[in-house]
Amino acid sequence: MTDDREEIRGDLEAGEDRLLDPEAREDEQELDITLRPRWITEFIGQDRIREHLEIFITAARERRESLDHVILSGPPGLGKTTLAVIIANEMGVSCKQSSGPALERAGDLASILTNLEPGDVLFIDEIHRLNRVVEEVLYPAMEDFKLDIVVGKGPAARSIRLDLPPFTLVGATTRAGLLTSPLRDRFGVQSRLDYYNQVEIKAIIQRSARILGVEIDDGGAQELARRSRGTPRIANRLLRRVRDYAQVRAGGTITYEVGCEALALFEVDGMGLDKVDKMILHAIIEKFGGGPVGVNTLAVSVGEEIDTIEEVYEPYLLQIGFMQRTPRGRIATESAYRHLGMGKESGETLF
Ligand SMILES: Nc1ncnc2c1ncn2[C@@H]1O[C@H](COP(=O)(O)OP(=O)(O)OP(=O)(O)O)[C@@H](O)[C@H]1O
Ligand SMILES: [Mg+2]
Repeated sequence: MTDDREEIRGDLEAGEDRLLDPEAREDEQELDITLRPRWITEFIGQDRIREHLEIFITAARERRESLDHVILSGPPGLGKTTLAVIIANEMGVSCKQSSGPALERAGDLASILTNLEPGDVLFIDEIHRLNRVVEEVLYPAMEDFKLDIVVGKGPAARSIRLDLPPFTLVGATTRAGLLTSPLRDRFGVQSRLDYYNQVEIKAIIQRSARILGVEIDDGGAQELARRSRGTPRIANRLLRRVRDYAQVRAGGTITYEVGCEALALFEVDGMGLDKVDKMILHAIIEKFGGGPVGVNTLAVSVGEEIDTIEEVYEPYLLQIGFMQRTPRGRIATESAYRHLGMGKESGETLF
């Protein structure tokens, strides 16, 4: 390995854990401005959700009403925030953004609600993390566009009801199961985003490459798509990193070979698995005889938060059929053994 390669690898190692992390967003900010689709026609994939939204948006616009409240759920990096902004653009209104953890007190939400213009979209990210008090302010706001506030203190305290402008609440969550049912029931549109297939991810990569002026051939786009975990955020990140490699090492164009070389150097494997995915599978196989093992035990043994395992890693391992959930815990499947080059019987390495 040349010194240059060592240097690239050194640079990478600093940020290595983030290359495949669908939750890491810092490096996205400048990209976001250009790559994030702004209109529904630019949004690739999730065909059914797109079709439904197009109908609801057109109908609401024709009736000159605000769109019904929308809840978007699904793993990180699949386009929930993007869709919220698209909804606002298509409705011709502005999008005010907040998040569950940021809305600590009822007053925080009240001040946002009273500052909305008629028809506006209020986007609340991580809505499953709203606290109960704040959530209760939302119920009448969503249902009747009313805000109940308490004025005064002690025996003189009384509750008054304010009218709010009609608005659309767009909530996003990676954990639909954690929403309380009174909250969930108040969303008229409930959409679950799923991992993208490779054809869609490839189209997203080609679109991003066009916008960024990156040369990538069909084989290159295909290979990046295969390793992007069905996640647009990761696809865009891999594109950017492989572009750097192509520029420094390979005359600029991303071909199949260049993609393979770069991704080998960056330690992104053929299925797009990273170190933590592999640690999880190795733990199930080597420490727990292939499973079943409870998620709590698993989390402790790989040193990750339970939530992170459940929200970030597990959905993809389930999706590609490397892991199964059973009532007694998680199991590693035959395909996982095969991918890791391990024998199912002994849990030993075959080669
Ligand atoms: N359908 C799509 N077509 C093209 N690009 C997309 C699409 N969906 C998402 N992206 C790109 O992927 C990035 C991540 O999407 P987004 O931030 O909307 O994900 P998210 O679901 O809100 O993630 P999180 O749960 O982490 O908040 C965006 O910056 C956008 O550029
Ligand atoms: Mg988001």
